Amino acid sequence: MRRAIAGTRKTASSHTRRADPAGRRGAVVGAAAVASASALLLGFALTVAPASEAATREELQTRAKALLAVLPEAAPNPENPFTPEKIDLGRMLYYETRMSINNKLSCNSCHDLLRYGVDNEPTSPGHEGKRGNRNSPTVYNAALHVSQFWDGRAGDVEEQAKGPVLNPVEMGMPDADYVVKVLRGIDGYAPLFAAAFPADDDPINYDNVARAIGAFERKLMTPSRFDDFLGGQLDALSDAEVAGLETFLDSGCTSCHMGAPVGGLIYQKLGLIHSYETADLGRYEVSQNEADKAVFKVPSLRNIEKTGPYFHDGSVGTLAETVDLMAWHQLGRKLSDDDVQSIVTFLGSLTGRIDEEFVAKPVLPE
Ligand code: HEC
Ligand code: HEC
Repeated sequence: MRRAIAGTRKTASSHTRRADPAGRRGAVVGAAAVASASALLLGFALTVAPASEAATREELQTRAKALLAVLPEAAPNPENPFTPEKIDLGRMLYYETRMSINNKLSCNSCHDLLRYGVDNEPTSPGHEGKRGNRNSPTVYNAALHVSQFWDGRAGDVEEQAKGPVLNPVEMGMPDADYVVKVLRGIDGYAPLFAAAFPADDDPINYDNVARAIGAFERKLMTPSRFDDFLGGQLDALSDAEVAGLETFLDSGCTSCHMGAPVGGLIYQKLGLIHSYETADLGRYEVSQNEADKAVFKVPSLRNIEKTGPYFHDGSVGTLAETVDLMAWHQLGRKLSDDDVQSIVTFLGSLTGRIDEEFVAKPVLPE
């Protein structure tokens, strides 16, 4: 299935490139001789002449660009325009444990911004230690998705942000008025809400809490070396990652995991080809439509190597096993261990850069 593109060129060039993050192309071309020799040794059938390898990376980049896309810097919402004041307020509220009934939980408890926006737990403990039945997805790049939650029950990040604060197994606040009362009781918030929502007479309200958090989340993007590659820096990926990208494309993963977030844009049945056992009704709970049973929002694969465990219930521990299950249940194919490993290697290149200054916990008002 996989043409021998670059998987045979490991030795010289990957070292050169790793030491050269600016990624000049010379290193790639210079490794051609090593490539053909090791290819013969390893018994690969080279169908592409080593000299044309740079062009082949280019071909693959073109192919990838047709299905995937460079991550934008933000996911703007015209109805909730960015201002620095609103984003600063949103960041505070994101870390605000006083919006939980036990004063201990914030958005960051389950979506830790320094841990790629997750808690790495199968399911997350809420204010009473009780767990919901779904895995916490990452907040990074989530604003690009077609909708929010595994079943897409919230239209966007602003709507989503209203949920967890009042969710009895999450932050557990009794109702929106109570949250507003708490925030009004913290004097320092009044000027901050006024600056973030200057047109509002009474800016501390639950909608504005959600707008501020949403604006902050809309900036949580993690560009990676894969974006560098798509953007034209052809040697931003290692040989093994390039080979893995080809396996990923050849396998048909992009029929569901597509676009800039590499997922998040459509709904699909878990177990489309070979059924998958799950008690979760997925989108059926939103639509009450029989055909939506076990249908979920296709997750984004950005930062996926960091956001395990996997699936809506966090039931799968390793990325290799997840990829293997995907191929079987979603595509009806049994991938070889090598192909699974190759895809996993490519997926590693989707691990992005976290803007630690932007996400740092701010001083919260008194
Ligand atoms: C107790 C853990 C917990 C807390 C606290 C929590 N979340 Fe979540 N979050 C989850 C879980 C679990 C899901 C998935 C639930 C589902 O899909 O049914 C989720 C889903 C999301 C999603 C959807 C992402 C996607 O890809 O669909 C976003 C965005 C999000 N949370 C943001 C927030 C924000 C903002 C806060 C604070 C206001 C917050 N969360 C607080 C556990 C938590
Ligand atoms: C027919 C659509 C479809 C295809 C094709 C598909 N996937 Fe998925 N993928 C999904 C859905 C839906 C989920 C969510 C499953 C769940 O947890 O309920 C998912 C989940 C995943 C996850 C776990 C994400 C997470 O955050 O837990 C990974 C990793 C993944 N897919 C990788 C792949 C790879 C690699 C391929 C190709 C071999 C592939 N997928 C093919 C629809 C698809």
